[in-house]
Amino acid sequence: MLPGPRGWEAVKTILDLRKDPLGALLRLQRNYGDILAFRYGPVRRVLLFDPPSVQRILQENHTNYDKDSPFYHMLGWFLGKGLITSDGELWKQQRRLIQPAFHKSRIDSLVPMIRQQTQKMISNFRRGEIIDVAAAMIELTLGIIGRALFSQHLNARDNGIGSAVEEIQRQMQSRFRSFYPLPPRFPTARDRRFRLANARLRDLVRRQIRRPKAEDILGALPPMPEEQLVDEMITLMLAGHETVATTLSWALALLSRHPDQRHNDMGRVVLETLRLFPPVGVFGRRSIGPDRLGGYAIGPGQIVSTSPYVLHRHPAYWSNPEGFDPDRFLQDPVKGSFVPFAAGPRQCIGNYLALTEATTILECLRETRLELVPGQRLEIDPQITLRPRGCLWMRVRA
Ligand code: HEM
Repeated sequence: MLPGPRGWEAVKTILDLRKDPLGALLRLQRNYGDILAFRYGPVRRVLLFDPPSVQRILQENHTNYDKDSPFYHMLGWFLGKGLITSDGELWKQQRRLIQPAFHKSRIDSLVPMIRQQTQKMISNFRRGEIIDVAAAMIELTLGIIGRALFSQHLNARDNGIGSAVEEIQRQMQSRFRSFYPLPPRFPTARDRRFRLANARLRDLVRRQIRRPKAEDILGALPPMPEEQLVDEMITLMLAGHETVATTLSWALALLSRHPDQRHNDMGRVVLETLRLFPPVGVFGRRSIGPDRLGGYAIGPGQIVSTSPYVLHRHPAYWSNPEGFDPDRFLQDPVKGSFVPFAAGPRQCIGNYLALTEATTILECLRETRLELVPGQRLEIDPQITLRPRGCLWMRVRA
């Protein structure tokens, strides 16, 4: 039998997971090891912190795992059947259609635009000014993804995208904490806000896809049914900006704490930031048939989750795991031990874009010397993405 908390310990674990999810996951690994199971509401959950088993579910035996789980059903309330939430034949077909639009050469051709957008932001900074870097990075990455996808400038305030994304994250988080998440169909103020936010995003995307074709990712996609295209573009727009903004916020905070690293290679700084603060802190799969993981038998229909946040601090795979040391990426990490973008056939389609974008932006900001204001705390707000809690106040030094 798999180790893990039972009885009263399981209840305490669930309360702990709600109060402090990341701390709770670290404690579970410390107390029970790299593979464990416990009951959470109606389902038994298996947690994997063992890189070979993570590699097995994502790559070697990936056909035995799908996304038929409460978490992805819930994401589907606003992402529909886009690439993140679809499964089986639909996913395979859509991934084949969309992959060419993310070809390296197309992403490389975006670098001048990324630089220009960043320079425009910097030109509005004044020396000595204090800015909320978290908000500035959302604004910047939303502007960039809008141009990359639809050749349009998207503005968090004007289009209501910022508040819609906020609303969706809060909703998802509060529902995910309940045992039986109900779809937002009930006439509470919360459900109404969620449905409005969702409708606003869909309208915005529908307007974009009805415009004449342009030289952008949307223009590079082959024809597909309009509602499928709306789901795909919403998925790319949402997955493609907050994750990158979060990475940049943490990277700038880390560079402020480690100014000696300002002259290091920004590609490695991005990787080390993704190790310590992986925007997607937890993800999982459902087993279709039986399997063996870490020496234990896993039955069909089990929810098997892992956490990049915990894997990236695994003391057997990382020396000084809490330290910020970009040069550790001079060597390739062990397979399955570094999975900010997942791995295997369902790994993030935007990983090259995300790395290119974040590296380019940090290079542009190198001379700006953003410094955390005294007393600014660095605390993770574990929503769907692991972002900094509240505002991230930094002073523009140069
Ligand atoms: C630092 C930034 C990013 C991180 C950390 C990240 C992380 C991830 C992770 C962990 C997954 C797998 C999720 C799962 O298995 O449930 C994923 C999937 C995905 N990501 Fe990203 N992502 C980032 C940026 C982007 C960007 C820029 C885009 C697009 C513009 C994007 C689009 C997608 C899509 C479409 C999928 C689903 C792929 C599939 O299943 O075929 N992501 N991402």
